Amino acid sequence: MTPTTNAAEEPFWLLDPAVTFLNHGSFGACPRPVMAVQEALRREMEANPVLFFGDGLAPRLDDALACLAEFLAADEGNLLFMSNATTAVNTVFHSLRLPAGGEILLTNHVYPAVRHTVMAAAEAVGLSVVEARIPFPLRDAGEAVQAILAATTPRTAMAVLDHVTSPTALILPLERLLPALRAQGILTLVDGAHAPGMIPLRLEELGADFYAGNLHKWVCAPKGAGFLWIDPRHHGTMRPLVESNRNIRSRRCDTELRRRFFWTGTRDLSSWLTVPAALRILQERYGPWPGIMAANRALALEGRDRLAAALGIEAAAPDELTGAMVSLPLPPPWRWPEEGESLFLPLQRRLQSKFAITVPIIPWPDPDHPLLRISAHRHNQASDYHRLAEALLAL
Ligand SMILES: Cc1ncc(COP(=O)(O)O)c(C=O)c1O
Repeated sequence: MTPTTNAAEEPFWLLDPAVTFLNHGSFGACPRPVMAVQEALRREMEANPVLFFGDGLAPRLDDALACLAEFLAADEGNLLFMSNATTAVNTVFHSLRLPAGGEILLTNHVYPAVRHTVMAAAEAVGLSVVEARIPFPLRDAGEAVQAILAATTPRTAMAVLDHVTSPTALILPLERLLPALRAQGILTLVDGAHAPGMIPLRLEELGADFYAGNLHKWVCAPKGAGFLWIDPRHHGTMRPLVESNRNIRSRRCDTELRRRFFWTGTRDLSSWLTVPAALRILQERYGPWPGIMAANRALALEGRDRLAAALGIEAAAPDELTGAMVSLPLPPPWRWPEEGESLFLPLQRRLQSKFAITVPIIPWPDPDHPLLRISAHRHNQASDYHRLAEALLAL
């Protein structure tokens, strides 16, 4: 944990200082001053709910979305707030009418909730699901490109690709994949749950049809902040999962798309309204975002090298496909399950209970071959990875 410089100052992060927290990737971590902004909004909401929702909400949501659009190099008219990436992916499949008999392509690194969404959508309309198998360890970007493009067929209607994969922490080479898929007439949905705040994004230039992202992970916004970017040619088909009261309208971007999505029932939208504060507060503390992302990545690579050296293993992915998260296949003896149970959870629990280290051990591709996934954000330091290496060796 980064020590506070001023003893009188409250720690920036709310993370338990007694714990070595190496799993920023799963749920992010929201700093104290960002939470304070959210709490103030909630108090304001309860001080006069009618004024808060009636007068103030539309322009505030407009402003928050405009600020996010700038961060993502996106046109604000193509962006909608979503509660999380899962909701964004579900919204796309709820809206699309894919041709019966077609195929949806995903990869063996897909996030489980996204896999389930795709399977349910495919089953509902008689589509098949095809899984491209990206090798891991991965030698170079070409291997991933080859695995995905080789799995397309003339029936492929849509490809669902991670920007940063969850179990294996690979940055997929979208700049090569998306144009090739588009050239074949295949729609693309990018699951960018991990990308915003981890790697620089320029959404208008990426060439996806849909891009789902989270802000409660690497941007450190409060939980429940995500977005969906939609190419303008799909605006007409998009429908929310819950129908909206269309009377409350955006003032600066009063499009049919926004009207459909703007007010899908009364709820606490403070996490969305806090996104600009998260973007600003992290920068005030640590400098501009490109520097934050570069420093996090450098720390993750350093942590990877430290662990790999201690465990006598090699990096499983090239540096250019690595951001602020790294997965390493655990070698024997950790590979062997204990009698009657898979290894990954007992090991994760032991690291927590014996060493106060929070780090995921992921049963991928199966429980007998677990991956150790480390994350790096500004609350981490090099000694955290050293502690983890020592703990693993001591187990
Ligand atoms: C690649 C990927 N997609 C989607 C999700 C789902 O995110 P959320 O639970 O915020 O919807 C995650 C969460 O870790 C993820 O790693």
